[in-house]
Amino acid sequence: MKIIAGNFKSNLTRKDSLEYAIKLDSMLSNRMHNNKDIYIFPSNTSLMQNNYQYITIGAQNCNDSNSGAFTGETSLLHLNEFNIDTILIGHSERRNLFFENDNICARKFEYFKSNNFKIFYCIGESLEIRNSGKYLDFLRSQLSFIDASFNNLVIAYEPIWAIGTGVNASVEQINECIEYLKNISNAPIIYGGSVNKNNSSDILEISDGILVGSASLSVDSFYQIINS
Ligand code: PGA
Repeated sequence: MKIIAGNFKSNLTRKDSLEYAIKLDSMLSNRMHNNKDIYIFPSNTSLMQNNYQYITIGAQNCNDSNSGAFTGETSLLHLNEFNIDTILIGHSERRNLFFENDNICARKFEYFKSNNFKIFYCIGESLEIRNSGKYLDFLRSQLSFIDASFNNLVIAYEPIWAIGTGVNASVEQINECIEYLKNISNAPIIYGGSVNKNNSSDILEISDGILVGSASLSVDSFYQIINS
């Protein structure tokens, strides 16, 4: 089973996201895709009922609280309303732009683990760490903050230097990290970072799946990737 996930980030309106989900679900009904597990992560104002037949709706981010005085945050209560039980934690944009360090990511991980969520936990090194040659140790240290044996965990390896840059890691580079991570966890390990319809099939051959940003924003492009 390959995991194929689309992260819309702060793109697509509520209307666009809903139309996208309806269209994708119906496109998928025309073919056999039972070897693919497909997820989309719309922005929080575009969250919709998680009741599609062929796709699962996940949240890109959520506060580790049921509800309360957390101005500007989305809480578990809001995800529950949509029957959403899948979440991305630790995306490099959350880490770098919104200062979510390993401790905050770990706290969120514990919270959503205890609420029986499926957790896509993102890790990945910067270009500086890659060039220092210590990237494998770095990935290990990022995972050391969480329970890597959690049975509803998906590890998303996303080298920061390959996200949104059009520079994707080579198959050899991805493979080295995936093989290394497989010694640490039995969780599926997926890759993200400039995945598109031209490189997706090679990456799917050596990974358990892909997390797609920009190339998931058009439903036709994402559908081509799913079929790759
Ligand atoms: P990208 O984003 O495919 O646009 O590089 C991937 C991600 O950030 O998950």
